[in-house]
Amino acid sequence: MTSRRQYSHVFGLSGCVICGISAALVAAMLGMRGESAPSCAVLSEGAPEARCRADAASPPILPGFKYVGVSGCMGSGCHDDEKPTEHSGKLIGDEYNIWFDHDPHKDACETLYDDASTEIAGKLSIDDAATSERCLSCHTTYAPEPQRDDTFDLEHGVGCETCHGPGEKYLEPHATEGWTNEQRGKIGATGLRSEFGLIDTTDLAGRAQMCVSCHLQIDKDLLDAGHPTLQFELYSYNHYIYGDEHGQIHWDDSGVPWINAKLWAIGQAASLEAAKAQVAAWKGKGWDTAAADELVAMYEAGAKIAAKHFGAETPAALATATYSAEACKAAAAELAALAPSASSQIQRKNIAFGVVALAEACFKAGGGEAPAAFRAASKTATAGEEGDAWAKAVREMADLIGK
Ligand code: HEC
Ligand code: HEC
Ligand code: HEC
Repeated sequence: MTSRRQYSHVFGLSGCVICGISAALVAAMLGMRGESAPSCAVLSEGAPEARCRADAASPPILPGFKYVGVSGCMGSGCHDDEKPTEHSGKLIGDEYNIWFDHDPHKDACETLYDDASTEIAGKLSIDDAATSERCLSCHTTYAPEPQRDDTFDLEHGVGCETCHGPGEKYLEPHATEGWTNEQRGKIGATGLRSEFGLIDTTDLAGRAQMCVSCHLQIDKDLLDAGHPTLQFELYSYNHYIYGDEHGQIHWDDSGVPWINAKLWAIGQAASLEAAKAQVAAWKGKGWDTAAADELVAMYEAGAKIAAKHFGAETPAALATATYSAEACKAAAAELAALAPSASSQIQRKNIAFGVVALAEACFKAGGGEAPAAFRAASKTATAGEEGDAWAKAVREMADLIGK
């Protein structure tokens, strides 16, 4: 499609056109880029896990490597092909197009120019959300200035390198067929990250921890100013099906054994860790923690069920734990039994998506698909609306598992 070719050209020059923003804003962005980098003392010396800002949650910017920007992942034979082709046993090649057309992360920077953002920023006495570190830190790949290559552009939003790591060192070698798998075998996820800056997204625990660094740890004053409440349930977020508008993911991990049960269990454990960190951060700032405590309690209940049935507590241990249809069914029943205690939409959705994830794992293990009655009930259940219909739908789902 010509439009994409044009975009690729545009990306090389300036990402701003993508956001469709005014010249004044472009000037503001450029001005901001000219400023000195945000204080990132931790970054220069810390371990790979070191975060840009120690005082608050911030996404996983890896120190020591340059971020090349989304345009670096494009080009013939790379990630902006019309149709994917087989590489190392996976269909690869159209990720950029899917991200551009169907991924909420592509618009994360653009969001900062809309009315809702202007209102939130106004309440926080922030002049401009689109140039404020307090917003950019999660709504872009917020690499500090010295780590930005010439082709890097904040306006690409939450781009490839947010989740896959800074491209500087792996960009070239990973284009060789089989390179990533070979290196993964040799130096593992840890080596890939420390030597090449490549984050191994097949590592489900690492993936979960990366997602929740943006999705579950926010400052309370942002919420008080009207920022949407953050919640996270890995199974539904990983499939981009949590909200009313569904995005499209550019990966296919359906071949991973017990993937949906794992996503649920690992998600509860990783979310629990993040929710606890959020409580600690709020306490440190003297904020009332009631809302954050509720999230901890919710994930604690889920993680407890996961620990009981899959025999592991941490995200990493749950990634290598043993799963079975029986355990998934029992965990789903126990989760569904929490329904009467659910008192918010977040809690109702967390329970409903958990039951769906575990049920899907069971149906798949039995060689089948969810029956129509299950799918109908799951629609009502995952909408999470208050009322008897919701509780009934959750019960129905639990009853249908394994039938
Ligand atoms: C750098 C921070 C960051 C990271 C890391 C991140 N996200 Fe996001 N995500 C966002 C932001 C910001 C939005 C909101 C985009 C918008 O609408 O402006 C978002 C939106 C989403 C949405 C849409 C939510 C809805 O209501 O429909 C899904 C789904 C999602 N992210 C899943 C994930 C998953 C899965 C991961 C990990 C693999 C992840 N995200 C990692 C920042 C991040
Ligand atoms: C800790 C990370 C984080 C920070 C900091 C942050 N956001 Fe967000 N924001 C998110 C995530 C994640 C979402 C998507 C939530 C979801 O749908 O699950 C989001 C969603 C939004 C939305 C709703 C987007 C939509 O499509 O409905 C707006 C508006 C927004 N943020 C504005 C801001 C502004 C303005 C700031 C700075 C004052 C800011 N955000 C700071 C993580 C963050
Ligand atoms: C919100 C996080 C996120 C963003 C942003 C993101 N990815 Fe991914 N990507 C993932 C996850 C998670 C996987 C699944 C890993 C796996 O199982 O192989 C993945 C998988 C892939 C794969 C392997 C395909 C497969 O079937 O597994 C490629 C190639 C890829 N991404 C390229 C890109 C490119 C190019 C971009 C930017 C245009 C991008 N990604 C943006 C999270 C992300």
